[in-house]
Amino acid sequence: MTTMRAMATDRVGPGATLRPHTLAVKEPADGEVLIKVLAAAVNPADLGMVAGQYRWYDELRLPLVPGYDVAGVVEAGDWPRGAAVIASTGHSRSQAGGYAEYVTLPASYVAAAPENLDWAEAATIPLAGLTAHQALELLDLKPGQSLLVNGPRGAIGRFAVELARAGGITVIEAGRDSAPVAEASVDAALDVVGGPRARQAFAAVRDAGVYVTTVPEFWVPGGQFTAERGIEPQIVRAEPDGTRLAALVRAAEAGELTTSVAKTLPLTDAQQALDLLATGGAGGKLVLIP
Ligand SMILES: NC(=O)c1ccc[n+]([C@@H]2O[C@H](COP(=O)([O-])OP(=O)(O)OC[C@H]3O[C@@H](n4cnc5c(N)ncnc54)[C@H](OP(=O)(O)O)[C@@H]3O)[C@@H](O)[C@H]2O)c1
Repeated sequence: MTTMRAMATDRVGPGATLRPHTLAVKEPADGEVLIKVLAAAVNPADLGMVAGQYRWYDELRLPLVPGYDVAGVVEAGDWPRGAAVIASTGHSRSQAGGYAEYVTLPASYVAAAPENLDWAEAATIPLAGLTAHQALELLDLKPGQSLLVNGPRGAIGRFAVELARAGGITVIEAGRDSAPVAEASVDAALDVVGGPRARQAFAAVRDAGVYVTTVPEFWVPGGQFTAERGIEPQIVRAEPDGTRLAALVRAAEAGELTTSVAKTLPLTDAQQALDLLATGGAGGKLVLIP
């Protein structure tokens, strides 16, 4: 049995922390790929899963290795050995985490890495990029229509702003410091923040417009988001998808999608990265390097 170093937790819930583990490398089955991880981006979902605020499709298997985003090199399986790739681990389904030296994933989750980005930059694309891409598909806007994006400097918000602009959509960036946007003044809104910011985003949408959120826990059915105004709130649920990811890679290579890495840390500092994210001190995307 081949083993690897990974950062994992033996339990989830308040106070749970990651520590180094030696775990078995999962041999790729038919239709799977074994990836040597060279960079793993940190996402809010990683924090939530360790804190016990996360739901998997199947019963949780411990120890839990968090991590939704990887960039690395194919070691074996249904991709050419040595190929540079990126993938979302689809953690809610696979329970395969990126905070490790290796990860084994369905080949359908994987796309060739962008040629113009380094490993850390490339690792920031999958989850946030897939979520932004799916959100824009749900929004289904035409060139010239207007879209408000709150949290435009966050990972999803940034990608959504860039992809929407590349599609000819007029984007209103409603960040923390932006002036309030008039009620019923935009065709659509994408909420990536929740809470009061979600309510403001919803209020900005014109009657019969479109409203999509990535944080449904803040959506209160029967409350301020009733369908009275002809707006049916829609929820994005990011899914791993190599074909969609390949479209994002093409956008990155065309300069339509840009990445930003606030800080890289060694994999063994994964808990420190989660602590930084939890206290709001990350200042942008954190990436772990095994
Ligand atoms: N539904 C899904 O499938 C799915 C998939 C992925 C992620 N998510 C969720 O989507 C959310 C965004 O993810 P992300 O990766 O983009 O996170 P992120 O990179 O941390 O960005 C969060 C954004 O929210 C803004 N923000 C946070 N608190 C705020 C506040 N109190 N007032 C105003 N703005 C605030 C931040 O503003 P600053 O830039 O000014 O700090 C930032 O722009 C997270 O909750 C994540 O769990 C959902």
